[in-house]
Amino acid sequence: MSAQVMELETLPKIEIEKITESKLPTIDFDNLPFGKTFSDHMMICEYYDGKWQSAKIQPYQNISVSPACNVFHYGQAVFEGMKAYYKQDDSGIVLFRPEKNWERLNKSAVRMSMPEVPKELFMEGIKKLVELDKDFIPKKAGSSLYIRPFIIGTEPFIGVRTSDRYLFMIIIGPTGPYYGEPISVLVYDTFVRSTKGGYGNAKAAGNYAGTLYPRELATQMGYKDVLWLDGEHKKYANEVGTMNIFFVMDGKLVTPETDGTILEGITRDSVITIAKSLGYTVEERPISIDEIVEAHESGKLTEMFGTGTAAVVNVVNRFGYKGKDYLLDDKAFTIAPEIKKELEGIQKCTLEDKFGWVVNVL
Ligand SMILES: Cc1ncc(COP(=O)(O)O)c(C=O)c1O
Repeated sequence: MSAQVMELETLPKIEIEKITESKLPTIDFDNLPFGKTFSDHMMICEYYDGKWQSAKIQPYQNISVSPACNVFHYGQAVFEGMKAYYKQDDSGIVLFRPEKNWERLNKSAVRMSMPEVPKELFMEGIKKLVELDKDFIPKKAGSSLYIRPFIIGTEPFIGVRTSDRYLFMIIIGPTGPYYGEPISVLVYDTFVRSTKGGYGNAKAAGNYAGTLYPRELATQMGYKDVLWLDGEHKKYANEVGTMNIFFVMDGKLVTPETDGTILEGITRDSVITIAKSLGYTVEERPISIDEIVEAHESGKLTEMFGTGTAAVVNVVNRFGYKGKDYLLDDKAFTIAPEIKKELEGIQKCTLEDKFGWVVNVL
């Protein structure tokens, strides 16, 4: 296999080793499950001696690390989730608010005692990788190129302390919708996802591992995902699956405040901005499950939806709490589809980017 190696002129220096044969012809773009297909290349950058070393874009492949690495035992692992889109008129490729992802990755890294990644490395790595594998960006509505930057602790040492070696990697792949349909959620009054003083606002792997068992039980009970309540009182709505949660009550949008226990969603922030610009009132405050149930019973709760990069805006049409199910008529929702249309219009450049969120890659 003769690999083509070339250097980039831009900083930081990212060496590129290209594949010799693309897997593009094997990909069925009409049937893309979420998160199972990866492009031809990936970026990898090592951290040791107290600094990030030079990065390399290379053929997508398995990596070799010591079984004693921190990530396998004590879970030093943080990640991001982003998307690249073709502009609807085919005039280029864009990213949506990538700086926010860079900021959040570093915030997560600091909380997990990991080194921050320089902005240029993050941005250039993503741009070069997306540019190189641009033919993997699906054009079908609801599909996009998913981008997964992540950092793992790789020092071969069994002992509970901060690792002194890391890998920062970026993998990308064409993907279909995350849920693709309205979802049902179970509200637990037993399991919780995070609590004050914890690290619920970090996009750290451990936050997800802890949700898998309760989520599995919820799916066995016929729910698609879990609506988490706060860890202290098991009373206030927190977030839903891998999304932030919004309720429409009395025509107003209500969403939990960012109190350190929930992920500060970039879609959440965008939805709040869009909703306000459309003239809606948005309240960021604690919302108790009792208030939600009462609002449902009195007819004040008219819509419920989650927001996130993967799912964009995904409606919730049923929630279960203490053995009772509460249904919502998602066909009658008006605000969620209006905001989704606006957001997707900005992301795919069919609507004016009035908030300056879109960044050109090509
Ligand atoms: C737990 C959790 N909450 C919320 C979100 C939504 O965040 P964003 O809109 O930045 O994708 C995600 C997805 O990244 C998530 O994993």
